[in-house]
Amino acid sequence: MKPLQHYQNVQNEMKTWVDESMRPRYHFTAPAGFINDPNGFTVYNGKYQLFYQARYENCVGWGHAESADLVHFTHLPLAIFPGEEYDKDGCWSGGAIEKEGKLYLLYTGQNNATDLKPQREAQCLAYSTDGGVTFTKVKENPVIPPELLTGDASHADFRDPSVWKRGENYYAVVGNSKNSAWKGQAQLFTSSDLITWKYVGVMYENPNLGAMWECPSFCPVDENTDLLVMSPIEVPVSGHDYHNSRSTVYLIGKLNYETGKFTPRKIGEIDHGKDFYAAQVTRGIDGTPTLIAWMANWEREYKTERPFVGFANNFTLPRRLEIKKDELLQFPAQGVENAFRRTKVKTFTVNGETKADADFFGSVQRLKIKADMQNATAFTLKVFAGGETETTLSYDKITGVFTVDNSKSDYPTKGEDRERVREGIRTVPVALNGNTLALDVFLDVNTVEVFTQDGKVAMSTMSFNRPEKTQVLFSAEGEVKLQVEKYEFQ
Ligand code: FRU
Repeated sequence: MKPLQHYQNVQNEMKTWVDESMRPRYHFTAPAGFINDPNGFTVYNGKYQLFYQARYENCVGWGHAESADLVHFTHLPLAIFPGEEYDKDGCWSGGAIEKEGKLYLLYTGQNNATDLKPQREAQCLAYSTDGGVTFTKVKENPVIPPELLTGDASHADFRDPSVWKRGENYYAVVGNSKNSAWKGQAQLFTSSDLITWKYVGVMYENPNLGAMWECPSFCPVDENTDLLVMSPIEVPVSGHDYHNSRSTVYLIGKLNYETGKFTPRKIGEIDHGKDFYAAQVTRGIDGTPTLIAWMANWEREYKTERPFVGFANNFTLPRRLEIKKDELLQFPAQGVENAFRRTKVKTFTVNGETKADADFFGSVQRLKIKADMQNATAFTLKVFAGGETETTLSYDKITGVFTVDNSKSDYPTKGEDRERVREGIRTVPVALNGNTLALDVFLDVNTVEVFTQDGKVAMSTMSFNRPEKTQVLFSAEGEVKLQVEKYEFQ
């Protein structure tokens, strides 16, 4: 095992050869290297702390950045990397919390299987005494060893703790699978000091929600509502839902602290795009539940990875969440709103044709679109277009289905057929508001993140194209009256 500074040197060195033209401008990326899950997403010292799974020389630890608005980030030194027997194969995902002014990280120490021992995952603690810059692992680690579990619980799939405080007590929910069957469950623990933990029991299980539940993230919302998000593996496809082999779901409900049981009232997929995983939710600086996720998924190869361009993967935009009558609504966070300035508004009609308007060309911009479809059956927005390839966002009024089709990008993501990655198509039902389809579309070099303006639907798609592919086209079957607003990133 090498010292943390070694991996810091690797990150610093790699940064000097990153192909900056491939880097999204307003989505979070690390300075360099391959990243996956957001970790330890929390507010501390009046700022958002955003950690991330960072891989250097095949060794996984936590990188760290800080931000006031979740759009502009200051990169901080790498936080933790393997260095002890209990985390020798990786400092995997987890959460963060403040205690007595200090920032604590609760993460999974990974121990791979050997010929003599099966895989073992244990929850470990590190803390900072210098305001959240450098971290020390506690001598009591691992603080939540798998041996605390009783009943039907795997010790090999036991990871990604999310930590919160209620009254005088700390709680942690940890992702787990059963031993008897590869079925997910969420395990609850409690502690008064973050060091000594007591097993409460299975907080929630659901045989229809796939196998191992990765990355649970728990966010108390109000007296009657808690939000649990998690990333289950292999949820069976159901209609328009769960087309990725790893999904990210929300559960709106309530945790009963007497029984330790969580009862959901509503369960659904958070994002219907191809590239979304391992979301974390925290209460924002102003208290608003705020979500961020990895804008990618496993078992795929993205353009940045081969040949490697010095960094791979970004996060989604930070999202402001609202829960209305148990419906999850997602909007770009306030920091995103503040970072864009409206530069154009136009109204025009598209009638059975495809219209190009150079005012709306661009691969780094936000487009707010209102499409009046009273006299139309379909509307399509083409982005990263021009020539043979394009990414299309289309609405079919007859079926009521909205589709993002990335099958014709210049560099389609490679992946397994069963995931429909190569096909690149994802669909979701969208209800018109009267006759109007209202879209909020963010393009960022190689990302397409789209929200319906009522917040009911979000879709995240990576789309890799040649840099000159900046055309934006509008087409319709029938007559669509459009209002298009262009916003530029400041
Ligand atoms: C989810 C995940 C986690 C794990 C981490 C390892 O993407 O598989 O379960 O902690 O990635 O990097």
